[in-house]
Amino acid sequence: MIIDLPDTQLYVEESGSGKPLLLIHGFPFNHEIWRPQIDILSSSARVIAPDLRGHGGSPPSPGPYTMDLLADDCAKILDILGVQEPVIVCGLSMGGYVTFAFYRRHPSLVAGIILTSTRAKDDPPEVKANRDKTAALAEESGVQAVIANMLPIIMAPQTYPADPELVNRVKHIMEQTSLEGMVSALKGMKVRPDSSPTLDSISVPSLIIHGADDQIIPLSEAEAMHGSIQHSRLETIQDSGHLPNLEQPELFNQAVNVFLSSLKS
Ligand code: MLT
Repeated sequence: MIIDLPDTQLYVEESGSGKPLLLIHGFPFNHEIWRPQIDILSSSARVIAPDLRGHGGSPPSPGPYTMDLLADDCAKILDILGVQEPVIVCGLSMGGYVTFAFYRRHPSLVAGIILTSTRAKDDPPEVKANRDKTAALAEESGVQAVIANMLPIIMAPQTYPADPELVNRVKHIMEQTSLEGMVSALKGMKVRPDSSPTLDSISVPSLIIHGADDQIIPLSEAEAMHGSIQHSRLETIQDSGHLPNLEQPELFNQAVNVFLSSLKS
């Protein structure tokens, strides 16, 4: 469905009933990366999976898309959908950066946190410079050029020969990102604050899921978050890179289902 916000429209897929589970995708993806979760977890949860501004079915709006802006968009979606109880927020990579902003700005809306393939730290200077280079590449050569650079490292090295169909599916999902959306998200990630100080303050149950072979964000970042978030659980997914929810959907869904059940009891 399309949801109208005062300054833009957002596409949101909603499915199932039960505890609300907000799935926030990474860069440059859309809700389709959550297909195995939407299909399976909707039998035990109310799954809400938006397309962030400029991604998938959500049209671009002027950037930068700060993590605060994207987090507030998610809060507005929950309000418009009439979600009455606190939600479990599950963010992947950039979606994890948005999850930290969501927790800082809307703590009363959060019942639990799932941090997937993400990190708490902000960008060091060389990564900030790379964001500019990637934005310039997109503007000069189109989103395909950025996708061509990202695709070979987005999943575990062993996934490529083993599952060309998945590689094509991921490429197709990335291609749904608009040029303006891509550039605005890069600018927003570049200026995001360090969320390390937030880790200590997280008092809701937290699950951290990370692929053992993540080539974008190393497993050590997940271990560091696990060390700082009290009562957190770390689930390391073998034979998975940056997209464990797609590379190992059964293991990912099982970890989330165990977490959801622990919240119910
Ligand atoms: C993502 O998957 O969202 C991005 O790789 C995150 C980033 O570029 O920092």
